[in-house]
Amino acid sequence: MKPLRIALTKGRLEDSTVNLFEKIGYDCSAVRNKGRKLILPVGDGLEVVLAKAADVITYVQYGVCDLGVVGKDTILNQGGNFYEVLDLGFGRCRFALAGPKGGSFFSGYSAKTIATKYPGVARNYFESKAMDVRIIKIEGSVELAPLLGLADAIVDIVETGTTLKENGLEVIDTICDVSARLIVNAASMKLRKTEIEALTDRMEQFVC
Ligand code: PRP
Repeated sequence: MKPLRIALTKGRLEDSTVNLFEKIGYDCSAVRNKGRKLILPVGDGLEVVLAKAADVITYVQYGVCDLGVVGKDTILNQGGNFYEVLDLGFGRCRFALAGPKGGSFFSGYSAKTIATKYPGVARNYFESKAMDVRIIKIEGSVELAPLLGLADAIVDIVETGTTLKENGLEVIDTICDVSARLIVNAASMKLRKTEIEALTDRMEQFVC
């Protein structure tokens, strides 16, 4: 039988995910010393694919990866058709609306401009408040947008709060909590149920 294939999010979640796989007994030396290689065997019928967060969802949704580890932030922003089976407990942060310290974002009648890497989350948040805003997609270091005068506020993930603080910004409102999730392709969930459940059970034991 071909190995189960799991897509892992590169970057922010990568280290904690690899630590978890080592705890449950996989040999992740190929992942730790990956160089530029993108598909890596970790033994015991499992193969790891390293991808960007949004692509983890795409690969799982299309069934070329059976499972994925991805942040709830990306899931909320992108949506998709897959099962979310486990909160892995790491990569904890929150979605927040943030703006210049001492500002008064919710006062006044003029339509506000919001910069974000997560337009889907920002849209849902302001729709829930029945507020009409202009949303501008930014690819990274979103905190720059209000500093440069492009936006009144940002919707972004906040972990320690250091980036906001060091740039004279503050949280205006907390939107929701975020952490890493294990997701499963819908067909794989039926066709490889036993293997997937065994893996999920092992992972669950080490959830913090
Ligand atoms: C994230 C987020 C904030 C920062 C928050 O960016 O977009 O900028 O981390 O972390 P803190 O509250 O601990 O300071 P990331 O590091 O992923 O880089 P990016 O903005 O370039 O995408």
